[in-house]
Amino acid sequence: MRKKIVAGNWKMNKNMQETEALLSEVSAKLPDTSATVMVSPTFVNLASAVNQLEDSTIEVIAQNMHFAESGAYTGEISADMLLNIGINTVILGHSERRAYFGETDEILEKKVKAALAKNMTVMFCFGEELADRKSDNHFSVVESQLKNALFGLDASAWSSIILAYEPVWAIGTGETASPEQAQEMHAFVRKTIATAFDQTIADNVSILYGGSVKPSNAEEIFSKPDVDGGLIGGAALVADDFIAIVKAI
Ligand code: 13P
Repeated sequence: MRKKIVAGNWKMNKNMQETEALLSEVSAKLPDTSATVMVSPTFVNLASAVNQLEDSTIEVIAQNMHFAESGAYTGEISADMLLNIGINTVILGHSERRAYFGETDEILEKKVKAALAKNMTVMFCFGEELADRKSDNHFSVVESQLKNALFGLDASAWSSIILAYEPVWAIGTGETASPEQAQEMHAFVRKTIATAFDQTIADNVSILYGGSVKPSNAEEIFSKPDVDGGLIGGAALVADDFIAIVKAI
């Protein structure tokens, strides 16, 4: 079912004490909201974050996982390990994973399938680079990212998928897609899913926008009909900013 979601992707930021302090402040200041609020600290702080937020409505999610069940994959984390500490949702396909860690559509398809096989929810990120947009290829790039990693799934899988459109040129740059650009891409994504699957699936999937969302621009972006929330990077590291973004939804 389509939900309003605000998720904080902390990336490689905040040590143990800083994580605890930020979570305390965010949970203390969290307004009453019907939106789902999620935070994603680094792997080493996930278990303590789950414990700390035991009585909170804030959901703790992971930034990545490996597709294998277990075994000789030094440095990697499995779905079972996440589930074991109470994590049910994982971000996959972030552009930083694609760009710096060589994650291809093929690898992402395996990861998505592995997470879904364990009944996890996948927050799947996709988005074009600046050159794609400048050459007017942004729709075809996004379509192929979705097609390669997600369109081989059964229709039933879509109830466990959240999408996050994150144009690479807007991540950490201070440059945000305009609300119109976000709306245009989100509508395109919904139409593409309706064509590949059906209209109900397209209508029910939550599509978040990510890329320099701030308290000053969140409300306008979230007001667009096909934008169901945000995946927040830098602004999620400052409690008051993150809370202001939650309030904007
Ligand atoms: P910024 O909000 O820092 O641009 O990061 C967005 C992002 O990558 C969230 O996953």
